[in-house]
Amino acid sequence: MAAAGAAMPPTQPPAPHPLVAPLAFLLGKWRGEGEGSFPTISSFRYGEELIFSHHPSKPVISYTQKTWKAASGEPMHAESGYWRPRSDGSVEVVIAQSTGLAEVQKGSYDADKRTVTLQSELVGNASKVKQITRAFQVADGELSYVVQMATITTSLQPHLKALLKRI
Ligand code: HEM
Repeated sequence: MAAAGAAMPPTQPPAPHPLVAPLAFLLGKWRGEGEGSFPTISSFRYGEELIFSHHPSKPVISYTQKTWKAASGEPMHAESGYWRPRSDGSVEVVIAQSTGLAEVQKGSYDADKRTVTLQSELVGNASKVKQITRAFQVADGELSYVVQMATITTSLQPHLKALLKRI
């Protein structure tokens, strides 16, 4: 007879959608810190939370990001979007930024190296930004990324670098 109050057996999370499975290394909630820079601005430090979530019935990952000033906690930039991986290793991403800028990104992932690299195909409603690239890597349980941008005055170079841990 089972003891009163015996723990239920642990339930396995449902398997991700087959197109999402190669990018399962991204799924979950991540928190960490980053540094922003660009030749035209003073560098700054920020805190960040990223959430990659999905439903097993849909071939899409929902993405939300928020950042805050490292020193005071005051909110900074935020963005959200959708990542659509394909079976050929390519991925397309749409992102809406809190500044009003909209991005369509295309690129590829490597499930073994746990990397994703994206380049903007379209940057909309931006007064200065011409191009954006994003590179993500998960290694040793940490997610790191570099965001580069080109503007009307400055060639493509890093704007953001961050390191986050899964929480
Ligand atoms: C400045 C774009 C993400 C914080 C800028 C500038 C641009 C820009 C165009 C002005 C550069 C210039 O005047 O030459 C972007 C884009 C982003 C992004 C396209 C995402 C792809 C972020 C994030 C943060 C941030 C995540 C905060 C964590 C700042 C700050 C400045 C700045 C503090 C300097 C503002 C000032 O000095 O007035 N960004 N940004 N940006 N960005 Fe970003």
